[in-house]
Amino acid sequence: MRPHVELIQESDLCWHDAELVRGDGKVKQRNLSYDEEDGSASTRVIFDSAWHRPAGYHHADIEWYVMQGRVKLGDRMLTKGSYFRAPAGLCVPAMSVEEGTEVLIFREYGDWGFSVSDKDRADFVPRGGNTASDEPGELTVVDSSRMEWLQNVYEGDTQRFLKLKPLYIDPAPEGQNDKGWVTMLAWAPPGWSDNRMVHHPVFEEAYSIDGELVYNFGTLDAGTYFFRPALVKHGHFVAGEERGWAGFFRLDGSLINWITTEEQVIIQGNNVNYDLETQAPLIAGIPVRSKTAGDWDLDGW
Ligand SMILES: [Fe+2]
Repeated sequence: MRPHVELIQESDLCWHDAELVRGDGKVKQRNLSYDEEDGSASTRVIFDSAWHRPAGYHHADIEWYVMQGRVKLGDRMLTKGSYFRAPAGLCVPAMSVEEGTEVLIFREYGDWGFSVSDKDRADFVPRGGNTASDEPGELTVVDSSRMEWLQNVYEGDTQRFLKLKPLYIDPAPEGQNDKGWVTMLAWAPPGWSDNRMVHHPVFEEAYSIDGELVYNFGTLDAGTYFFRPALVKHGHFVAGEERGWAGFFRLDGSLINWITTEEQVIIQGNNVNYDLETQAPLIAGIPVRSKTAGDWDLDGW
């Protein structure tokens, strides 16, 4: 259970002590989205001091994206644009993070738990929470700054002009779109637009890294974030003329865009004892928004 967040500006949020147990150092986090049932979370994390943690396994599927600074993972040095992912139960090497480093950390299908260990969790094969694969999972490490932008592979005619850098893809089997996983960077080039509404059978979340994208829920610019549950319509996109817009994306399955045009929503009823000018009800289902995002104009509802 994660709420529909659409949209918030990270700088509107308060800081918490980071949920990085078994590690030593002073670290803080902002909660972009939090599932209070299973402990899944999407967080923006800043290291106010150096931080170190011994080898061990997480209790959730974990992803890190380095926004700035340096993260040592075993003998690998991760810098700006680097990413790693480890399924729950997979032993990851000792980590050291330099003071001042900023990252996005995502947990899925579990909480902040971390067990110090030099081997995988013993009682199950670490694969990942939503995979259809029978293969054991592995540590994925990618440096996006060394990748080229690729052509979009997902449905929708103008969507093909979007550019992608796939970071972790777990393909869904035929007919099982709700299985698998996609984590990627996406870039809408300057002036890109798509005036249709789309929805899809998987959740979608994104943290905006650069540029600007105006759409039905407002304006995505650096530091804005949304978590959109499956089947929520979104669209009327127009990317900024200068740099377009780039964001870090996660989806809990294969993406297929179902498209709506000429959408129309009709709400009807008679007011009995209230004034339509000053007491008319809000519609149900307005997503979580932070103050910088302002009011939603209900486009696309
Ligand atoms: Fe989408």
